[in-house]
Amino acid sequence: MTTFALSDRVHWIGAFDGRMRTFDVILNTPNGTTYNAYCVRGSEGVAVIDTVKRECADQFFARLQQYAAYDEIRAVVLNHLEPDHSGCLPELLRRAPNARLYISDAATGVLKGLVKDAALPYTTVTTGSRVGLGDRSLVFLQTPYLHWPDTQCTWVPEERILFSGDAFGCHFCDERLWNDEVGDFRYAFEYYYAHIMRPFKRHVLDALALIEPLDLAVLAPAHGPILRQDPRDYVARYRELSTPRLHRGAREGERTVVVFYISSYGNTQRMAEAIRDGVAEIPGLRLSVYDLEGTPVLPFVDLVEAADAVLIGSPTINGDAVKPVWDLLSSFAQIDVRGKLGGAFGSFGWSGEAVRMIEDRLRGLKFRVPLGGLKVKLVPSHDEIDACRNWGRGIGEFLTGCAPPREIDFAALVGSS
Ligand SMILES: Cc1cc2nc3c(=O)[nH]c(=O)nc-3n(C[C@H](O)[C@H](O)[C@H](O)COP(=O)(O)O)c2cc1C
Ligand SMILES: [Fe+2]
Ligand SMILES: [Fe+2]
Repeated sequence: MTTFALSDRVHWIGAFDGRMRTFDVILNTPNGTTYNAYCVRGSEGVAVIDTVKRECADQFFARLQQYAAYDEIRAVVLNHLEPDHSGCLPELLRRAPNARLYISDAATGVLKGLVKDAALPYTTVTTGSRVGLGDRSLVFLQTPYLHWPDTQCTWVPEERILFSGDAFGCHFCDERLWNDEVGDFRYAFEYYYAHIMRPFKRHVLDALALIEPLDLAVLAPAHGPILRQDPRDYVARYRELSTPRLHRGAREGERTVVVFYISSYGNTQRMAEAIRDGVAEIPGLRLSVYDLEGTPVLPFVDLVEAADAVLIGSPTINGDAVKPVWDLLSSFAQIDVRGKLGGAFGSFGWSGEAVRMIEDRLRGLKFRVPLGGLKVKLVPSHDEIDACRNWGRGIGEFLTGCAPPREIDFAALVGSS
């Protein structure tokens, strides 16, 4: 069985899963994946860092047994508890009578939800906590939301190896395993970041502040190649990908608004145009309008990520907003949209559910929705076009901070109590 030594004290004891083609429902894995687990030997005991998916238990235990006897294992670390890494935990703890589990604080609840065994011997750790193994030690860095709330990284300072969990990983199964020996895995690395880490960019930046000062020799993620050649390049790439950047043409301080609409008879389109005119009355805004008809939504994700406000128009068709609108909204799961301004509008014939449904979805995604959705029955009249323009201007005012303050009638508040 192939084995890998990161040093004479650190070994890869993971599993190859070359036939996997879809991961976690959302990811394509044309190269399959690896579950990387590691064992670290100190003069006073052995640590196991992460396990593998339960279906790959045979590979994991066979490799582990080559490097350690079960009663030597003092520490088991889970960098996060997702089942692809915790799958063999209960069996490992059964076999390793002297082992204690080390997890983050946030992992406590996850552990209870995943492993229904209240008797598990575990200790929670935080940034800077250290577990000694004699002449080797484990130091923990809390890196929440890379990509689960309980995610941490484990640093072995004597080896200068960072066990980074899913961060810096990718689904790429190549049994040569070292980044300087496997094939070209750039696609898999970028794809993994885009789908797993991108929604948590802010948290990635926090994690990088802890990781960048480390004098890294090897970056050992939980999936894909082990990064021993130029590990800092991958750290730098994460910084590059996670740093908000002004797109070409935008001016410093300029706020951006994107209006998306779709329209069968042009009614919602007329609303979109009037809204656009209203937004355009506010100086200092960069405004784009897109018709969703027949357009794949994926390229819009970048625009939405960079936008400060997103306005979405749909007619009501059979009691619902139309599919391209839902496709657009579901693509927002790839990015962080919390706190952006949102708004919904649309024409309808008799029941008009679409606007409310879009608004609810925007709120569910944690957009701020300062103005109630705008509905027009069938063809917008002159007055309704004016209302659309005012609504657009109102959004622009909120965005630039020049919205008139809301007047609160305290007498009415007291009266209503
Ligand atoms: C197939 C079909 C189904 C519709 N279903 C509804 C509906 O369930 N509720 C409603 O309020 N309007 C419904 N309408 C009416 C449209 O919402 C209305 O014609 C609207 O003005 C179209 O706006 P648009 O020109 O922007 O597409 C339906 C229209 C069509 C063609
Ligand atoms: Fe994960
Ligand atoms: Fe994973």
